[in-house]
Amino acid sequence: MARVVGMAAVLILVVQLASSYPILVHAADAAGVLGRKAGVIDGKAATENTPAGMGRYAVIFDAGSTGSRVYVFRFDRQMDLARIGDDIEFFAKVKPGLSSYAGQPKEAANSILPLLDKAKSVVPSRLTKTTPLKLGATAGLRLIGNQKAEQILDAVRDLVHKKSKFQYKANWINVLEGTQEGSYLWVALNYLLDKLGGDYSQTVGVIDMGGGSVQMAYAISATAAARAPAAANGEDPYITKEYFKGKDYNVYVHSYLRYGAFAARAEILKSKNGPFSSCMLRGFSGNYTYHGKEYDATARPEGAVYENCREEITKALKLNAPCHTKNCTFNGVWNGGGGAGQNNIYASTGFYYLASHVGFIDSKAPSAKAAPAAFMAAAKKACQLDVKKAKVAYPNVDDMDVPYLCMDLSYKYTLLVDGFGLQPMKKITFVDKVKHGEYYIEAAWPLGTAIEAVTHKEKPGN
Ligand SMILES: *[C@@H]1O[C@H](CO)[C@@H](O)[C@H](O)[C@H]1NC(C)=O
Ligand SMILES: *[C@@H]1O[C@H](CO)[C@@H](O)[C@H](O)[C@H]1NC(C)=O
Repeated sequence: MARVVGMAAVLILVVQLASSYPILVHAADAAGVLGRKAGVIDGKAATENTPAGMGRYAVIFDAGSTGSRVYVFRFDRQMDLARIGDDIEFFAKVKPGLSSYAGQPKEAANSILPLLDKAKSVVPSRLTKTTPLKLGATAGLRLIGNQKAEQILDAVRDLVHKKSKFQYKANWINVLEGTQEGSYLWVALNYLLDKLGGDYSQTVGVIDMGGGSVQMAYAISATAAARAPAAANGEDPYITKEYFKGKDYNVYVHSYLRYGAFAARAEILKSKNGPFSSCMLRGFSGNYTYHGKEYDATARPEGAVYENCREEITKALKLNAPCHTKNCTFNGVWNGGGGAGQNNIYASTGFYYLASHVGFIDSKAPSAKAAPAAFMAAAKKACQLDVKKAKVAYPNVDDMDVPYLCMDLSYKYTLLVDGFGLQPMKKITFVDKVKHGEYYIEAAWPLGTAIEAVTHKEKPGN
């Protein structure tokens, strides 16, 4: 998001807020008396001297594997983002993440106390009780064991309850499922692009690749949603209902565990024919480590071969698995049926990073268009190189990732085209940030969560 990184910067922001905030609060306080100069958004005088005139806030914690972050968003009564101090959001982070405190739930909870205090200092105190607080922990927290993860989440709930008056429910502080991440990202992206509030056919779809999982989300018609098959045992349902400005949306969303950027490498290496991987660049020998497990990633003596690498990927994706729902992506998963909500695809995180690091999109552009075929073209080039030459050819790719270039590029092409059924030559948008008003804002799930938390309550009769 329009992110201020680093504690120094955060402190500066806090200082600025300390000086600018009372002025804002004052203006709104005085509004009822003095003719509503500040805080007037839609000119409805009757409610102007109520807290609603200051907009609504949402406090969202993103408990990632390497650190915890807090975002505070402020919305005006049109549900547009309103400024907090000099920025369009408030952001702060601490390291390490909750999962580093396995077996020490109190310490884990206390690690986010500074963030909670900062959030308290940003939200006007009389709005605290009506300001929702949510925390989404990445699935990585479960790797320390379900019980230890639950203890930590309990301690965090306890901390929020004892040390703040923010509105929260026990299930608002939880591990975020991949499907939730997908649907919140869909909300955030369509919100930033001003697509919400109209027909579902105007919305854009999103395919997001994290390290562990990849998720696709797009809106479908109510009729199509009514015909959605039941999800497999233990999987989240295919349809999530979203609501915004009087419109209901049926969002098809599915998260594929083990098919994110780092997890997929392990799956592909497991699928290789014989002792060598056809996806590894010439000259590489050694193991690939993922979540403490080692996978032999030694290259063939003659190096990577694009066509053979594609075969290994096809196997890993289980493209030929039986499909019981007529239309499948891969591994027997329903594809949502397609339609207008999928005409405009945005590809984020892992897709954006690889495209920009390899250079077929401008690495400085917040978003850029290219066709999935660009991954294939880049793969065909990269697969021919040895590790040394590839390091020279792709200076923006991290040294650790260079031996996997043929694999990563071929994988993203195969996933998009053979897995998700995109046209190879039809352009999609690779997105990191979206221009919204005068700000570039990161397209990420916390904003979607905030929007949902704030709009949810207004639903009855509004
Ligand atoms: C790779 O992993 C295997 C199996 O875990 C192990 O026996 C071997 O020593 C590892 N090789 C290297 C180079 O680390
Ligand atoms: C779904 O399957 C039907 C019947 O096989 C086909 O006509 C339709 O085009 C498919 N839709 C998508 C989005 O793949």
